[in-house]
Amino acid sequence: PKANMIDPFGRAITYLRVSVTDRCDFRCVYCMAEDMTFLPKKDLLSLEELERLCDVFIEKGVRKLRLTGGEPLVRKNIMHLVRQLSRHIKSGDLEELTLTTNGSQLERFADELAECGVRRINVSLDTLDAEKFHAVTRWGHLDKVMRGIDAADRAGIDIKINAVALKGFNEAELPEMMRWAHGRGFDMTIIETMPMGDIDGDRTDQYLPLSKVRADLSRQYTLTDIPYKTGGPARYVQVEETDGRLGFITPLTHNFCESCNRVRLTCTGTLYMCLGQEDAADLRTPLRESEGNELVSAAIDEAIGRKPKGHDFVIDRATKRPSVARHMSVTGG
Ligand code: GTP
Ligand code: 5AD
Ligand code: SF4
Repeated sequence: PKANMIDPFGRAITYLRVSVTDRCDFRCVYCMAEDMTFLPKKDLLSLEELERLCDVFIEKGVRKLRLTGGEPLVRKNIMHLVRQLSRHIKSGDLEELTLTTNGSQLERFADELAECGVRRINVSLDTLDAEKFHAVTRWGHLDKVMRGIDAADRAGIDIKINAVALKGFNEAELPEMMRWAHGRGFDMTIIETMPMGDIDGDRTDQYLPLSKVRADLSRQYTLTDIPYKTGGPARYVQVEETDGRLGFITPLTHNFCESCNRVRLTCTGTLYMCLGQEDAADLRTPLRESEGNELVSAAIDEAIGRKPKGHDFVIDRATKRPSVARHMSVTGG
């Protein structure tokens, strides 16, 4: 039997998100500035160290593990880590091993991911228009992502499309995106843009509350709330006309922190207890101080013991400052 991590608000921590790199081959406008500086490679934990930390978390009750970035598939030798972690899927210690990816490297890795027991992945995609795609990702190419999605689909991996709702950018296109995703048998979630990190543009102009998106969709589609749960923050509806599932992720309009089950590990071994707070714990020092895992385990317990109640993102039209200075790519969303 696994030990359980329970935070001060009685929430069991069963979901670990691991940002394996802060780097990315895209520069999405809501995520990064164009001239981002990244961590020096020497500051990164090795893949072996990341694996050791994951093992400790699984020992302590994590049942769902998601690799994120930056873009997880641009980390050198990442499939080595996936393969090592897949042993926990085979043994049944882990229920889900998965990734959130921009899709750019999926064509190359889809078969291997499926072999490693990855049954479901989330692909970030904000538009189906090639020119707009290039505009929002700055560096991305839609055709490559589409080939990646096709490869994952062929490999038998279930796909969820993540679209960040951006006013005046994809607002009008969201119904079409949903029809496309559902037509291909994919789930889709729409996400409110969160004010994290200094970006080049004005986030207050991009912000679109999902209450508006849902109201607009409801005029054309029959949306029925369903209890479908994945362990993430989305609230799902079944869409009658497209026979697919659509999720809403609403950190600003409808806080979901009460049911939070997750913590985030960065590629330098920092543990963030909440996406929307700066509270953190250093796991690299205890990891490197001893070969046994007792120190790491104690540091994790201490950290979980001060997990904050929740985030308080605000779209501040007056100051236009982000609620959280850290960029999204540090903690991987
Ligand atoms: P599923 O396993 O499919 O439920 O995935 P997920 O929603 O947990 O993960 P994904 O990486 O697809 O994240 C989708 C969006 O939800 C991203 O924008 C994340 O930043 C956001 N998100 C996930 N967890 C949290 C959270 O605890 N707080 C906040 N504010 N946002 C979160
Ligand atoms: N607000 C909301 N979602 C974001 N993502 C990246 N930056 C932001 C932001 N500022 C999304 C990505 C990806 C997921 C991990 O987080 O599109 O799908
Ligand atoms: Fe890269 Fe994802 Fe950030 Fe886009 S949102 S720049 S794909 S990490």
